[in-house]
Amino acid sequence: MTTRIALIGYGKMGQFISSLAPEHNCQIVATIDPVHPESARSICAESLAAADVCIDFSHPSAVLQNIKQVLELGKPLVVGTTGWHNHLEEVRHWVEKSGTGLVYGANFSIGMNLFSRLLAEAVKSFDKFSAYDVYGLELHHRQKADSPSGTAIELSKIILENSSHKNSALFDPAYRRIEPYELHFASIRAGSIPGTHTVGFDCEADTVELTHRVRSRSGFALGALQAAKWLKDRQGFYSFSQVISDILC
Ligand SMILES: NC(=O)c1ccc[n+]([C@@H]2O[C@H](COP(=O)([O-])OP(=O)(O)OC[C@H]3O[C@@H](n4cnc5c(N)ncnc54)[C@H](OP(=O)(O)O)[C@@H]3O)[C@@H](O)[C@H]2O)c1
Repeated sequence: MTTRIALIGYGKMGQFISSLAPEHNCQIVATIDPVHPESARSICAESLAAADVCIDFSHPSAVLQNIKQVLELGKPLVVGTTGWHNHLEEVRHWVEKSGTGLVYGANFSIGMNLFSRLLAEAVKSFDKFSAYDVYGLELHHRQKADSPSGTAIELSKIILENSSHKNSALFDPAYRRIEPYELHFASIRAGSIPGTHTVGFDCEADTVELTHRVRSRSGFALGALQAAKWLKDRQGFYSFSQVISDILC
């Protein structure tokens, strides 16, 4: 059955989701955006009436109010917008009170989510063989605001949690010999690279590398559509990672 979606925020992500929706058995029945000419201007019973589920890719300054309004109208919501995760417990309470459902995530890429799971398993395996040393490398376009990337920080946490040899991450140049317990995770900023993360395991005999390479933002859009279809008939508060775990079971 087709999933009918209201998009809250019709910028880059909203438009990506809209273009991918038909081939994933989803229909965009409404868009809500303060600047897009053909969109509704506000979240209300009328603008959400035809939707089974909403997806928010708007703005950190607006997202909490959007969540509140959508839940009060009793609609389930997938939230891709970031910048509000220090309010998770408050929002969990709103969701429970509303009796509807919400999925949130800082990274809706299915590929990156599976990469993180493979990485945890790989670190556990290589950890049994002390000859192998683990390292990380991330590359992004020169306009990127942050360095290291948020994803590199998350990946380094996965490595540290699953390695008995490493207990701290070093993202900057050391200007000295690094200690055996330090995980070196380097960043490069150049050109237009959309985003590459590599974790390697190296010993005298060979190197094994796991790489996730972004080709376009459609990975985030696909993940959000997948989450919307999964959430449609559910209640409760879920991370995107829980959605992937459920699909894998
Ligand atoms: N979780 C993930 O995997 C993931 C992936 C990509 C992006 N994101 C996040 O998602 C958000 C949107 O990304 P984007 O690249 O699509 O940004 P974008 O191109 O700037 O689009 C956001 C759109 O939402 C509109 N908007 C602002 N306030 C709104 C409100 N109250 N109600 C409805 N729409 C509103 C904006 O209008 P104005 O131009 O007037 O502000 C803009 O048209 C960002 O926070 C980004 O970090 C998350």
